[in-house]
Amino acid sequence: MLKPIGLSHGHYECRSLAETLPIFTEILALEVRERTNGQAVLKHPNTDWLLVVHEGGPDARNKPHNNHYGFRVAHHEEIEGAWKYLEANKQKYGIKMVTKPHEAHFAYSVYFKEPGGNDLEIEYYNPRAAEHGRAIAAPHWKTTLVEERFPGRGYVPQAMTHGTLQCDEKAPSDKFYEQVLGLKIVGGGRQSSYIRHPSTPWYIVVLPGRQREHLAPVNRFTLKVATADEVEQAHREFKSNGANLGITEVWDLEQKNGQISFIFSDLDRNWWEVTATV
Ligand SMILES: [Fe+2]
Repeated sequence: MLKPIGLSHGHYECRSLAETLPIFTEILALEVRERTNGQAVLKHPNTDWLLVVHEGGPDARNKPHNNHYGFRVAHHEEIEGAWKYLEANKQKYGIKMVTKPHEAHFAYSVYFKEPGGNDLEIEYYNPRAAEHGRAIAAPHWKTTLVEERFPGRGYVPQAMTHGTLQCDEKAPSDKFYEQVLGLKIVGGGRQSSYIRHPSTPWYIVVLPGRQREHLAPVNRFTLKVATADEVEQAHREFKSNGANLGITEVWDLEQKNGQISFIFSDLDRNWWEVTATV
């Protein structure tokens, strides 16, 4: 089993960085930390989970709705504000669709389609839900991002809270996340599971799907382990015994920029990466 020290990155494919980066910086309050040819590393000031955005070109396909990322605001009324701002600015940003604010149990959110082929969510989550055992409702930020840092929109995204995956069947996938990946199930319902690393608040919502479209490996989550040895050991184990663990594909070890890593696919054909600093 992996012993991750963190869920460190999400990797996300868009069509054009020129089109999609303004969505993250001007609508979701992320900052560009690194930009190289065809790739950018983004970070929300309140979230240590990095988002690596890959430029896939004009043929990169649309991703299913249940492979979105979500960003949380501090107040219920900011969702109406976000909806109005998105509607008023959708042409400017090439946004294809904005949903009306949608109320769910404890949550209130608006979804939109960015021009790079992905759905994104701005949500409010009632913090009192934490008292009802919903760990994901617990605060995702220590310091509130003040409106001066993100003025004139009518809402302030306070954190990048979640990514989303689809599985084929809940029970075997839950078992895989805990027993192979070393993550923790922290909530969910009859169908959904919320998984995360125990030391950080961000999480992945997993929902069973029928007639799934499998993602390309460029859409994946990265687990960080403590040592390069652990990466090599996991690679050996997944190569030799992967089929018994539910691993469906293992790529070669790669070493670059002071990191050792490899990419693999799980029982649902979702993609993960294990990495450590060398
Ligand atoms: Fe969501």
